Amino acid sequence: MEASIQAVRARAIEECSQVENLEELQQLRVKFLGKKGEVTQLLRGLGGIPAEQRPVVGQMVNNLKSELEQLYDEKQAQLERLIQQKRLQEETLDITLPGRMPRSGALHPLTLVLNEIKQIFIAMGYKVVEGPEIETDYYNFEALNIPKDHPARDMQDTFYITEDFLLRSQTSPVQIHVMERQEPPVRIIAPGKVYRADSDLTHSPMFHQVEGLLVDEGITFADLKGTLQAFAEAMFGPETRTRFRPSYFPFTEPSAEVDVSCIICRGRGCRVCSNTGWLEILGSGMVDPRVLAKVGYDVDKVSGFAFGMGIERIAMLKYGINDIRLFYINDHRFLNQFR
Ligand code: DAH
Repeated sequence: MEASIQAVRARAIEECSQVENLEELQQLRVKFLGKKGEVTQLLRGLGGIPAEQRPVVGQMVNNLKSELEQLYDEKQAQLERLIQQKRLQEETLDITLPGRMPRSGALHPLTLVLNEIKQIFIAMGYKVVEGPEIETDYYNFEALNIPKDHPARDMQDTFYITEDFLLRSQTSPVQIHVMERQEPPVRIIAPGKVYRADSDLTHSPMFHQVEGLLVDEGITFADLKGTLQAFAEAMFGPETRTRFRPSYFPFTEPSAEVDVSCIICRGRGCRVCSNTGWLEILGSGMVDPRVLAKVGYDVDKVSGFAFGMGIERIAMLKYGINDIRLFYINDHRFLNQFR
């Protein structure tokens, strides 16, 4: 019996060393350790040996069984490692190849310009407020002293929703909302979208304005000039000069259009400023007392100034953009330049 145990052992080990893949190993397991396997047969054969030898021989067979189980397990682990290694060698991955960089976004040029304008006025103590884009005739025109026969009221210029509701054609109505809500002093800017029935290289049916309003006791035209000069220097550089030209707006008296010395040629004359050396950037004036009276302010006590500018116009001047539609069509080649 002992001799046949040794013989089985020798063969089981020898055959294991010949095994080259997992299938062969599985066959070997069945052959020696399976239900009808050779080791199992040895256990069955124990019945035929003398009782006093049975425990010792039985122990030997059991030892062989666990020895082979361990051997085959190790062989299996070794074969699996080899398979793994082979796969790793075959499936090479070139980790030195640079990855695809995620494409990061950037702020829109109009946002950049508006942020700059906001920062400048916030630093001067202004609050940023917003008003509705759908307005009534009263806020967009009537309260701003714009007469019934004013051309801006024409259907050709303003988008009407009904006879009374319209898309605001300017941010000036925000002045009225603010003054109706609060007593002086008022110091606000109001950025936002405005709408006009107008479309060419420099006009868009929707564009952006920033309105400014300051009302307090003893405000004069000198305050307006000083404020806008300070704004021009902060926005376009300390050497920037301003020029106030008499103008007319129904809600301001007196009114002025403000030019800055050309930001491209510094006033020497170029294509952008049509050789005048100046660029018009905004409208402004002292708030007409009729407007202040309409919101219930005491015109004997307070006065104020207002101004309004187009953000697209300033962005076009600043970045040398000649087609306003570039702001709205989201062409990456355009937007990428403002990173
Ligand atoms: N609302 C005017 C426009 O759209 C711009 C403007 C001019 C606003 C003078 C003002 C101002 O506040 O004082 O053309």
